[in-house]
Amino acid sequence: MKPTGDFIVTALTLLLAVNLTVNACPPSDRAALLAFKSALNESYLGIFNTWAGADCCTNWYGVTCDPETNRVADIILWGESEDPIFQKSGRTGYMTGSIHHSLCQLDRLTTLVIADWKAVAGAIPPCLASLPHLRIIDLIGNKLSGEIPKDIGKLSRLTVLNLADNRLSGSIPASIVNLRNLMHLDLSNNKLSGVIPSDVGRLSMMSRALLSRNRLTGSIPSSIAYVYRLADLDLSKNELTGSIPDQLGSMPVLSTLNLASNRLSGEIPSSLLSNTSLNILNLSGNWLKGNMPDVFGPNSYFTTLDVSHNNLTGSIPKSLKYGKYIGHLDFSHNHFCGAIPAGSPFDHLGVSSFANNDCLCGKPLHSC
Ligand SMILES: *[C@@H]1O[C@H](CO)[C@@H](O)[C@H](O)[C@H]1NC(C)=O
Ligand SMILES: *[C@@H]1O[C@H](CO)[C@@H](O)[C@H](O)[C@H]1NC(C)=O
Ligand SMILES: *[C@@H]1O[C@H](CO)[C@@H](O)[C@H](O)[C@H]1NC(C)=O
Ligand SMILES: *[C@@H]1O[C@H](CO)[C@@H](O)[C@H](O)[C@H]1NC(C)=O
Repeated sequence: MKPTGDFIVTALTLLLAVNLTVNACPPSDRAALLAFKSALNESYLGIFNTWAGADCCTNWYGVTCDPETNRVADIILWGESEDPIFQKSGRTGYMTGSIHHSLCQLDRLTTLVIADWKAVAGAIPPCLASLPHLRIIDLIGNKLSGEIPKDIGKLSRLTVLNLADNRLSGSIPASIVNLRNLMHLDLSNNKLSGVIPSDVGRLSMMSRALLSRNRLTGSIPSSIAYVYRLADLDLSKNELTGSIPDQLGSMPVLSTLNLASNRLSGEIPSSLLSNTSLNILNLSGNWLKGNMPDVFGPNSYFTTLDVSHNNLTGSIPKSLKYGKYIGHLDFSHNHFCGAIPAGSPFDHLGVSSFANNDCLCGKPLHSC
């Protein structure tokens, strides 16, 4: 019957209209995104051309909303990716401008990625630290300057904090140790100064901590050994002083430890060589002295063992020949003396592994 048919069509149209309104992003989220967009310039790919129309939850490049609340949940803008938009333009992304504080109105934001755009500058808005749902902050590869927000530790759900390859200065905020869910911390290649917080051991979920290429001073806090999930620790190319904490040798899953190019002094703790899961150890370019502990054994498995450019003395540890595998070994530029032991870990090594010592001899150097 016609009237019923009309009624159904009307009802459907109404439902559709209600549904559309419900699905659209809230005007306040849309306004925040547009203010964010207006502070940035990206002209090669034109990603922001898609940021038009009323519904920011649909077809806005890099924007995703929570399907239940329709609030903006993720902003994911990679400057280097396999996305067709990059293949079409045949180049990587380049973006200038800055990160507008309007982002902080997106209080359901869980992921913020503005990565590898090369030229996004200015400060990280401090108000980001008041977005309680943030889990991922990835701003690698830009020109961000100023300090890391002091209150960053308020982000209790944060699992990833990647601010590497920027120009951030000031010190690592003391509050960072409150990030009890943090798994991945990368602050490499900035201009950070000051000390590593002494209670860094409170970051009990952390599995990677990369702080290389900064200007960090002070000593390595021994509390870091309490981060029992830590697999990868890179503190290289800083200005760290003091000795290497013994406790690093009792970390259950630490497999990469890079402390190269600092001013670390004292002796190499024997626990570091005898009792660990370490596969990659780089202590090159420090002020380490004394003997190399003679504590290697059948469980020693190093793909890299680099102690070059220090002030180590004595002989090359004889127990090294019992090691299961030693890939790249570098003892050069020290004050070692005596006969190089013979054995399988040494068979493949060249002169450069032992060069510039005081009085080493034997294969691959001249015979004793
Ligand atoms: C974007 O680039 C244009 C032209 O180069 C410039 O006039 C404008 O100020 C820039 N805007 C921002 C936010 O950097
Ligand atoms: C060896 O490591 C274990 C934990 O993996 C630790 O309990 C023990 O104290 C360590 N021993 C030495 C000599 O460091
Ligand atoms: C150890 O670190 C130094 C300084 O960063 C670097 O030059 C060297 O190549 C590293 N060693 C290995 C084996 O990667
Ligand atoms: C290395 O040791 C020598 C002799 O003990 C000492 O004169 C020199 O200052 C030391 N160098 C460093 C960088 O510690």
